[in-house]
Amino acid sequence: MTNLYPIQTKVSKEQREQLMQQRARLIWFTGLSGSGKSTLAVQLEAQLFARGFKTYLLDGDNIRTGLNKDLSFTDEGRVENIRRIGEVSKLLLDAGVIVLSAFISPFKTDREQVKTIVGASNYMEVFVDTPLEICEQRDVKGLYKKARAGEVKNFTGIDSPYESPESADLVIKTETLTVEQSVERLLNFVLTKISI
Ligand code: ADX
Repeated sequence: MTNLYPIQTKVSKEQREQLMQQRARLIWFTGLSGSGKSTLAVQLEAQLFARGFKTYLLDGDNIRTGLNKDLSFTDEGRVENIRRIGEVSKLLLDAGVIVLSAFISPFKTDREQVKTIVGASNYMEVFVDTPLEICEQRDVKGLYKKARAGEVKNFTGIDSPYESPESADLVIKTETLTVEQSVERLLNFVLTKISI
């Protein structure tokens, strides 16, 4: 960027973390539509909040009706969606907040980009590993049915790809675990990273 001179603030991330008595980290949920990302992120956030942590949850359907309502579900739209969320997450981390992000984020390179934007040590990837057949059976929003009927185009898992993570920090298999069990695993993992 030319002609830009970012300022240096007097308050650092570390000072904010000290004030807030927590380590600001990004908990990045990825998985198919209907895999359970939002359910788990909502429950995990509630558990963290109840323990006094300062958190914020960014969720695909919410962000796409606001900040990112100009973006589509083409590859380009998804790439830009995730890039912006990476930048928003970075701002929140800088503010000392623990961020939970629940987006399909189907492309490996985009997830890698988020990790680079926020810094690898601030990034935790949670793969909500629910097979397509199960997501389609659940079809909570009725979108798989519409996608199969050709009424929704570029639907992840149907006519748009999902690249599974190969080295997620945590893999949650929702087929074999209850929501409570999944949240317990998440909590155990996350608490060690965010506690001061
Ligand atoms: S992402 O691929 O760009 O990361 P994001 O998580 O923001 O997706 O949004 C996914 C949500 O948008 C889904 O849970 C679903 O409710 C809705 N949606 C609408 N159209 C599509 C589509 N073509 N593919 C996937 N999700 C869609």
